[in-house]
Amino acid sequence: MTNKRIITPEILLEENREPSLRPRHLEEYIGQTKNVEQLKIFIEAAKIREEHLDHVLLYGPPGLGKTTLATIIANELGVGIKITSGPAIERPGDLAAILSGLKENDVFFIDEIHRLNPAIEEVLYPAMEDYALDILIGKGPSARSVRLELAPFTLVGATTRAGDLSSPLRDRFGVLMRLELYSEAELEQILERSARVLGVELKASSRKEIARRSRGTPRITNRLLKRVSDFALVHNHGIICDDIAREALHLFEVDELGLDKTDLNLIRTMATLFDGGPVGLDNLAASTGEESSTIEDVYEPYLMQIGFIKRTARGRILLPRAYEHLGLSFVKGITLFDEVNSEDI
Ligand SMILES: Nc1ncnc2c1ncn2[C@@H]1O[C@H](COP(=O)(O)OP(=O)(O)O)[C@@H](O)[C@H]1O
Ligand SMILES: [Mg+2]
Repeated sequence: MTNKRIITPEILLEENREPSLRPRHLEEYIGQTKNVEQLKIFIEAAKIREEHLDHVLLYGPPGLGKTTLATIIANELGVGIKITSGPAIERPGDLAAILSGLKENDVFFIDEIHRLNPAIEEVLYPAMEDYALDILIGKGPSARSVRLELAPFTLVGATTRAGDLSSPLRDRFGVLMRLELYSEAELEQILERSARVLGVELKASSRKEIARRSRGTPRITNRLLKRVSDFALVHNHGIICDDIAREALHLFEVDELGLDKTDLNLIRTMATLFDGGPVGLDNLAASTGEESSTIEDVYEPYLMQIGFIKRTARGRILLPRAYEHLGLSFVKGITLFDEVNSEDI
């Protein structure tokens, strides 16, 4: 499904071709402080030992900096990186070709690693564990397996759904890192840096305005900055001040919390059709015309962060703040429903 929302956290085609705003070193990587501190130690230790870094699994919603972090890890280690994605590896031979091309201590990055086909995973296990490939030679009764040694490497896997990874695969990662949505202050820092890189004049007050509407996601922050900067170029000699940012975002239909029509439709459906819930994910998907996985990976993390939606054992419920935002009165008590940690669902 192509999603043309200006606030989609997923990467748009044209953004693949733009000059990069990606930080290249840990020093430039803003936020995710705990993860960054830990990585610094692991990277330093690997360098002192002159060994490869342990395999790293990065997980969290789209647009939070997983791919960026993978390339930074390779840069900081001073090694090469090979990049691919789960669905792109179709046959075991494809994987074997990449693995045998890796140099000592290189980083091998697999994006969307939860989408690896099980036959490929089988090849990956001995590679991750023993740095070896087991290759079958010949057919039928005379077939025999030959072990091919590989150079030690670091597998960095990224996924939006760690829960979909098979446990043998997950267990082979030494470092598991969950990326969190960014705070407004962190997004402001990202904006400051991006504006500098792009040569855009951005006033402090409009930085706040854009950060607040970025849904905790750097990819959205950078996209809004570019679009607002287009607007400023046409209307204000390129200078982004308070009113300009607000006017532009109003024109692009991103509201003051960063919600657009799709989000509003989602919460309005919950309020009106389902009486605030609890409503199951599939039911919600069917009534809004969105895919359940998109609701779960893309819309919900932010709606939960701002206290609009909550997951319970019986489904999603809409919270009073969401009613307030919609201008509806909240009628139902929410304390009736048992609370469950969202991780458990
Ligand atoms: N910590 C960060 N500091 C500064 N910019 C960031 C950071 N994380 C992400 N970005 C920006 O957001 C964009 C999206 O990040 P990316 O690594 O592609 O996300 P993911 O792989 O998790 O979907 C990057 O191009 C980069 O410009
Ligand atoms: Mg990515």
